[in-house]
Amino acid sequence: MQRILVTGGLGFIGSHTVVELQQAGYDVVIIDDLSNSQLSVLDRITSITGMKPDFHQFDLKEKEKVHQFFQQEKIDGVIHFAASKAVGESVNEPLKYYENNINTLVYVLKAMNNNQVENFIFSSSCTVYGQADELPITESAPVKTAESPYGNTKQIGEEILKETTTVSNLNGIALRYFNPIGAHASAKIGELPIGVPQNLIPYITQTAIGIREELSIFGDDYPTEDGTAIRDYIHVVDLAKAHIKALERLIENRNKEKYEVFNVGTGSGSSVLEIVKAFEKATNQDLAYKIVERRAGDITAAFADTTLAEKELNWKAELTLEDCLLSAWNWQKKIHENTLVE
Ligand code: UD1
Repeated sequence: MQRILVTGGLGFIGSHTVVELQQAGYDVVIIDDLSNSQLSVLDRITSITGMKPDFHQFDLKEKEKVHQFFQQEKIDGVIHFAASKAVGESVNEPLKYYENNINTLVYVLKAMNNNQVENFIFSSSCTVYGQADELPITESAPVKTAESPYGNTKQIGEEILKETTTVSNLNGIALRYFNPIGAHASAKIGELPIGVPQNLIPYITQTAIGIREELSIFGDDYPTEDGTAIRDYIHVVDLAKAHIKALERLIENRNKEKYEVFNVGTGSGSSVLEIVKAFEKATNQDLAYKIVERRAGDITAAFADTTLAEKELNWKAELTLEDCLLSAWNWQKKIHENTLVE
């Protein structure tokens, strides 16, 4: 049995990936510092899969602990989610982001090199493309100047990984996620935003359940059909599955380069208003919203060209936008019952 380390494995994307890994027959060990996740997620993962992943609670900035961990454990591959991810916060606290997202990456890669662990999957983001000149966006689109320290950590992270693979036995794949949404069909795991959600879907579900008064749509004067901005929303379970495909490619030595990059999206874009309408239809209720000013740093449109992932990873998003919105809504209702949050 292959043993896979998932850093940040109790977070939103991490927890869904742990479930898919276990169900695909991998033995999983999680490192998570609980800075943006809850310990109860471990039990919820276990109740979905019937298998309790090993769990180590520590901060990857503790370099010695990272090295000790790799010396003690026999690891076949690493999926590295652990990172800070709030764009606005990163603008106010850039050093927190560089320390959390860059130092930890360096420590993990160093420990991997020292202990002959060779397979690494990195969580990157479509944010590296900025406003791309052409849509859909292919992996060869230029990386644009980052709009935030958070975005910059993804660009720098990719470079660190690429440079490391050229001079070591490490093989790396960076997955550039588009907009991950939705929750597990069991409604046992999902996104747990702290405070007021910054992202669209949790804001919508919190509004629908009555925590927020109304959704503010950031701008209806974009050069799109209905004037609202367009994104490629991908179900987190589809995204989780892309990680398994990428990992298998490395474990089976099917990668064509030591460092590879793949877009992970659905290939089609939806405007904010289309999302609102789709949510109303899927859940059979009206959503209160108003149009406000554009949000600083937002781009007009982004959606993925997924040809490369389809061909090389043999992966394609399977779940629909309705699946995404209904699962997010079921999850929100579950949280609201207060059965999940301690
Ligand atoms: C955001 C981040 C991006 C990050 C991604 C990961 C910014 C500027 N970008 O992407 O770097 O990789 O999250 O989760 O924060 N919207 C509203 N009202 C809201 C919230 C959002 O109209 O209350 C709109 C936004 O203007 C945007 C769309 O909904 O057009 C999606 O927003 P969001 O979910 O925050 O994702 P991104 O901004 O695409």
